[in-house]
Amino acid sequence: MMEPDKDRERGTMSWLKSLFGKAEPNKVHVRPGGEAFTVPNGETVLESALKLGLAYPHDCTVGTCGACRTRLITGKVEAITPFGYTLSKEELAAGYILACQALPKSDLELEVDIAASTTRQIVTPAQLIDTKPLTHDIMAVTWKTVEALTYQAGQYINVRWNGGDTHRSYSFASAPDVGGQHNVTCFIRHVPGGAFTDALFDGRAQEFSYELDGPHGQFWLRPGKGPILCIAGGSGLAPIVSLLQDAARKRVRRDCVLLFGARGERDLYGDAEISEIRSAWTAGFDYWPVLSEEQTETRRQGLVTDHIPAAIERLGPGASAYLCGPPPMIDAAIAMLVAHGMPMEQIFYDKFTDSSTASKQVAA
Ligand SMILES: Cc1cc2nc3c(=O)[nH]c(=O)nc-3n(C[C@H](O)[C@H](O)[C@H](O)COP(=O)(O)OP(=O)(O)OC[C@H]3O[C@@H](n4cnc5c(N)ncnc54)[C@H](O)[C@@H]3O)c2cc1C
Ligand code: FES
Repeated sequence: MMEPDKDRERGTMSWLKSLFGKAEPNKVHVRPGGEAFTVPNGETVLESALKLGLAYPHDCTVGTCGACRTRLITGKVEAITPFGYTLSKEELAAGYILACQALPKSDLELEVDIAASTTRQIVTPAQLIDTKPLTHDIMAVTWKTVEALTYQAGQYINVRWNGGDTHRSYSFASAPDVGGQHNVTCFIRHVPGGAFTDALFDGRAQEFSYELDGPHGQFWLRPGKGPILCIAGGSGLAPIVSLLQDAARKRVRRDCVLLFGARGERDLYGDAEISEIRSAWTAGFDYWPVLSEEQTETRRQGLVTDHIPAAIERLGPGASAYLCGPPPMIDAAIAMLVAHGMPMEQIFYDKFTDSSTASKQVAA
């Protein structure tokens, strides 16, 4: 029989718990790496993981970039800002959450790729040394850094200018040099009215002082044998070229279809880089540019997403997808891929979110 004092004590504890919630920290277990940590009340999964020094994927920490996307296998979380502002319907249905916005409400089992990056992050002064037009509104921009940078193909760098607080993110547009490099090139699209790209396209940015911080991102080619479907829109071609150049150099033997969405002929670029990748590729390689606003005899027509079913059929079972470009294109592509049977775990992306994403969230 339970002693009356103990009985009373337990009753009081359970009453307090029902009032204030679980007082002790929740336990988190991560697959597939087996990392385990606790999250005190009021802290997000990401905050606790970073305090422990885990290389948990993240960038913005405010729920806009999607870098901390994690699959919740068991347990309950509360979202500080709704995950649906950044994650697609398909991702939510597959159980994905954003670790930087997730307050655990129970013990959790999570699935996330921790510590896969082998590169060291640095902050280095840099000088803009070259710009080259690629289309009417995209240019290749090269910075020379003081400290050598190492990155993985597909990652990006945060660029600060003139000592300001804000940054803009730009993906590396070529495969990394072994042992690090001082010159890094990105493909940058002009956003009319944009603080940084206006200055870049009217020439003022040539005179700016720069600080580059990175590399960041988890958008690298996962090991495997299955075919690869790459989908790019606009300047989103940059990390795809980087990833494919790197894979070609490493003699990766996987069939590949590259779908590139553009409005018209004048928006297509990167032919030289793509031809070089194709000639070095050791398996099947198809390049399918798709024009949404111009009809020509030779090009595919419509939205890039319209051509996903044909690409999946061309590649056969077991394909994984790598997507990069504007958020609406990525969300539509994810929906199409999932509708055609591709599991979410096989879909990797970098959304080129912009400074308006956070303000849309605040306004919603
Ligand atoms: C991980 C990541 C990687 C990126 N990589 C690249 C890259 O390789 N190449 C590249 O060109 N961009 C890339 N971007 C986008 C880039 O960081 C900037 O957001 C973009 O260059 C606009 O900067 P800005 O200062 O000119 O415009 P801002 O001053 O930030 O924006 C001005 C106005 O324009 C609107 N706006 C900004 N960007 C867009 C847009 N893309 N489409 C529609 N409206 C917009 C905003 O709503 C805002 O009202 C990336 C973004 C992320 C998150
Ligand atoms: S780090 Fe969580 S959404 Fe950017």
